[in-house]
Amino acid sequence: MKLVVAITGASGSLYAQRLLEILHADPQGPHEVHVALSRHAQEVAQAEIGKLVIPEGFQVHGDHSMQVPYVSGSTKFDAMVIIPCSMGTVGRIAHGYSDSAIIRAADVFLKEKRKLIIVPRETPWNLIQARNIVTVLEAGAQVIPAIPAFYHRPETILDLVDTVVARVLDHLSVKHALTKRWMEPETQD
Ligand SMILES: Cc1cc2nc3c(=O)[nH]c(=O)nc-3n(C[C@H](O)[C@H](O)[C@H](O)COP(=O)(O)O)c2cc1C
Repeated sequence: MKLVVAITGASGSLYAQRLLEILHADPQGPHEVHVALSRHAQEVAQAEIGKLVIPEGFQVHGDHSMQVPYVSGSTKFDAMVIIPCSMGTVGRIAHGYSDSAIIRAADVFLKEKRKLIIVPRETPWNLIQARNIVTVLEAGAQVIPAIPAFYHRPETILDLVDTVVARVLDHLSVKHALTKRWMEPETQD
């Protein structure tokens, strides 16, 4: 698959880190992964996990230059994931700002009817944020909030992180056995 994984300045850098690791290790790969970092992504990652580790072979891009392949509909991609996605980024997508490579890419994926998965992280939400989420849903984005599940009885932070990353992988159609599925035997995928 050819993917954009955009990382923004919301809390939850670990979700992005884990997704990158799993995509890199995926036996169905290698995937062509373009990692797009917003201006604040590194700052939050530094606070939360020290440093984002970009797997070998994945291309890293900043957010200012439009000299990246995913800002044009003419370049084909299978999907874009914004993980974690700040409410600022959700708002700019909802209102079509296209003022940075990440926001423009999201605009492109929506207009080309390509898969755009947004993993927002904020709590609580104000009404503006809630309405922006509705707008991106109406425009065709898939919204997978960074809300972990507990019915797998997670024992570590990584177990919790994986409950969110597993849903993202499901929506990317990437096979995985990250978490036990409800009422299904453990050996699947
Ligand atoms: C430590 C830290 C944690 C943050 N967590 C969140 C968050 O969970 N959700 C959010 O919407 N913004 C959060 N922010 C604020 C965003 O980083 C800020 O709004 C930024 O402008 C987002 O820009 P970006 O979407 O281009 O990365 C956080 C900022 C810092 C420094």
